[in-house]
Amino acid sequence: MKKACIEAIKARICYDSRGNESIEVDVKVNSFIGRACAPKGASTGKYEAVDFNPKGIEASLKLLSDYSSKLIGFDASDPYSLSQLLREIDGTENFSRIGGSMAYAISMATAEAFSKSKGIPLYKMLLPNGPYLMPYPLGNVLCGGKHAGPGAPDIQEFLICPLGVKNIREGLKINIAVHKEVRKQIEKKDPYFTGGKGDEGGWAPYVKDEEAFELVSSASQIVSDVFGVDIKLGVDFASSSLWNNNEKAYIYNRSKVKRSPGEQLDFIMELVNKYHLIYLEDPFHEEAYDEFAELTKKLSKVYIAGDDIFVTNTYRLLKGIKMKAGNAAILKVNQAGTLGDALNFAENARKHNYALITSHRSGDTSDAHLAHIAIATKSKMIKSGVVGGERLSKLNELLRIDEELSGCGMAKLEV
Ligand code: PGA
Ligand code: ZN
Repeated sequence: MKKACIEAIKARICYDSRGNESIEVDVKVNSFIGRACAPKGASTGKYEAVDFNPKGIEASLKLLSDYSSKLIGFDASDPYSLSQLLREIDGTENFSRIGGSMAYAISMATAEAFSKSKGIPLYKMLLPNGPYLMPYPLGNVLCGGKHAGPGAPDIQEFLICPLGVKNIREGLKINIAVHKEVRKQIEKKDPYFTGGKGDEGGWAPYVKDEEAFELVSSASQIVSDVFGVDIKLGVDFASSSLWNNNEKAYIYNRSKVKRSPGEQLDFIMELVNKYHLIYLEDPFHEEAYDEFAELTKKLSKVYIAGDDIFVTNTYRLLKGIKMKAGNAAILKVNQAGTLGDALNFAENARKHNYALITSHRSGDTSDAHLAHIAIATKSKMIKSGVVGGERLSKLNELLRIDEELSGCGMAKLEV
């Protein structure tokens, strides 16, 4: 049988949802084209793969011609060995030579081209024997922090999870209903609300954190009563953005509050009790393994997810596992750089019973690969906003997959 090899690679500059430049790559395998365009974060972790060569996106593009001959003819069936090759070609820890965006786009486009050449969907190519379960949609309904303007809350993301739903279609419907209801609640408080949204499509009102919790909580309650479905709240503190290392404190500028690590812990416990939160992402900054561990000891039935602290890096995750820091991990393929590295991270997380949450970036593209990655990695949740074309491209893909599988059960949550 003819081996499925990379036959051609072409890269170009495209734009992400914030209008920033990104790298898109076409890879040809057995005459089938796979295409991927890299997303880009704003509240990035210190240890994640960097997007481009320090000389800029053009430098990353130009370099491709130097090493493309090493990729042409390479086996397209194995994302792990392709990752290895890309790491060898790059020669740095964080893809700062060829650019993480290039590594991402080459590895993802190759996987897509290979799966097309075999006539199977990407999630089945990556997880041939199942089981296939739908991740719960974790939807951002209110934005703050680095994803919104200076009047919005300090906390980056106010999230909802439709715990009580039976299938993904119902899940999306509920999240969209809450998103709409949050707007109504905001307008009750501020009749001049402009309808402004943050980068991930959640509303960006002029409110402080506490008011934002109240707005999202009452909107969820209203929708929950209408649909008779349990809806829970979560939050991404994106604490590395709040942390001031000189002051050794979390600075909540808009609320004019400064919290020591101990006060941050108390604040989190208060919020969990008051709003019945089931999901806490980056409650502490990216070096705070000890504080993550302390919180994990205090809370059961709450996902404590590491994003900036683990940065989809297996080494950093294994340290967390050893210290019992958190019990869940965000999976962002472009943080790792390549699909193979991200899959390796996911395997380690699952092996140690860390729940996976496959996630978009604040600057995303209209690619739908995220839906396939979430299913293939047996993620418990998918974080991909609620509205906006670049968010719905992934969520709508879940609906198509659900249809193809003739209805697929939801992942089993432990909250
Ligand atoms: P980013 O934020 O994509 O801007 O890094 C998303 C997140 O922190 O989860
Ligand atoms: Zn995050």
